[in-house]
Amino acid sequence: MLGLCRRTEKLEGAVQISGSKNAALPILSACLLTDEKCVIRNVPDLEDVRVMFALLRKMGKTIKFEKNIAQVSGRLRSGVLPEKLVRKLRASVLVMGPVLSRLGEGSFALPGGCALGERPIDIHLGGLKAMGASYSILRGRMIFMRQALRGAHIKFSFPSVGATENLLMASSCAGGVTVIENASVEPEIGDLCLFLRAMGVGITRKGSSYTVKGRACLGGADFTVMPDRIEAGTFLLAAASVGGRVRVDSARPAHLGALLTKLRATGVKISKKGNSLTVNSPKIIKPVNIVTGHYPAFPTDLQPLWAVYMLRASGRSSIKDKIFPARFMYVDELKRLGASMVLKNAVLMINKSRLSGTNIYACDLRAAAAMIIAGLMAEGETRVYELRHLFRGYENFFIKLRKLGANVSMEKVKK
Ligand code: EPU
Repeated sequence: MLGLCRRTEKLEGAVQISGSKNAALPILSACLLTDEKCVIRNVPDLEDVRVMFALLRKMGKTIKFEKNIAQVSGRLRSGVLPEKLVRKLRASVLVMGPVLSRLGEGSFALPGGCALGERPIDIHLGGLKAMGASYSILRGRMIFMRQALRGAHIKFSFPSVGATENLLMASSCAGGVTVIENASVEPEIGDLCLFLRAMGVGITRKGSSYTVKGRACLGGADFTVMPDRIEAGTFLLAAASVGGRVRVDSARPAHLGALLTKLRATGVKISKKGNSLTVNSPKIIKPVNIVTGHYPAFPTDLQPLWAVYMLRASGRSSIKDKIFPARFMYVDELKRLGASMVLKNAVLMINKSRLSGTNIYACDLRAAAAMIIAGLMAEGETRVYELRHLFRGYENFFIKLRKLGANVSMEKVKK
């Protein structure tokens, strides 16, 4: 599929935010920690979520998915993570923690790099090793020998989101107490902790340290996934970039602090009422620099969208990504639209630019959303190819944008 975008003068109306992809994925994986039934609500209907379902099914689970509610039941039978699914979904490494803490053994295909740059899993593996796991690598797989995990004191060299989630799940069914220091504190991890607590795990957090009291047997739970803060941020930035007035409903404004501060600094007016945020974009916006970092700093997932927004600003701005320093693959594509951007020493400089439509190719999920918004700002027609990246992480993106008045549609790519 490709996205066909035409210049849109303004976006207007209200948009409803879906459940968080990056909270739903670890929570679904945590269902492997019990054989009892789990009901997970507000699960976004996305390609990544469907791959996670396929993975859980391979491991013995039965899943019913209807109206954004996933009912996960059945016994964990297998600890084999197939290469095909790992290649489709990097977050599939999140099943390692639950599988090893339940079965003590497993065979997992090694994840490779991706469009965001090198993505090692050394921090995940270091934590699992500290808990007693041992593995060898054979024909592209990590083979974990049978070994019960036990509580440990772990200090991460870097606060990795995925490693924090993996180790929280691994320690949930391990014997004894686990302390994880220098861990991530992203809201999605908070949601995972709420789910684990609902299953019976004792988890406390103090700053960036978690203490987990493992239990051999966990119960099922009924849980509602938090709203997607990155989707909320995407629509706030879409409105700010294209212009107009948009209300973003079912957001959690408290999760969007860094973005709201930066948006306001550009001159955008934002008002808050309960769980809704209304953004009003002025004619002239100021350039504002960002540096991405761990929560509560500016999220890396919104930096490609910020880059597109800054093409409107009346001056030069810069972006430095401290989480994925190489997350600038989208720059060359935006240049094809006429974006004046220079990448030097891993810092992206952005100048005010007039965009004109052409064919561009999405390289990852957030870049796909950013390119569609750029297409709405460009004169003429922009075709965004490789939309499959978008479907991995945005539910009904085109429907939602069109409801706001965007000139977008989807077309089949002619062979
Ligand atoms: N890292 C290591 N070793 C590790 C793990 C991570 O060096 O063992 C490095 C990575 O290479 C990267 C940095 O640490 O440079 C951050 O990685 P992290 O583990 O924190 O991220 P992740 O768990 O792989 C999650 C989200 C990403 C989001 C990042 C950062 C999910 C499923 N994915 O990835 O979301 O960008 O945290 O916030 O939760 C997206 O949704 O588009 C997306 C990419």
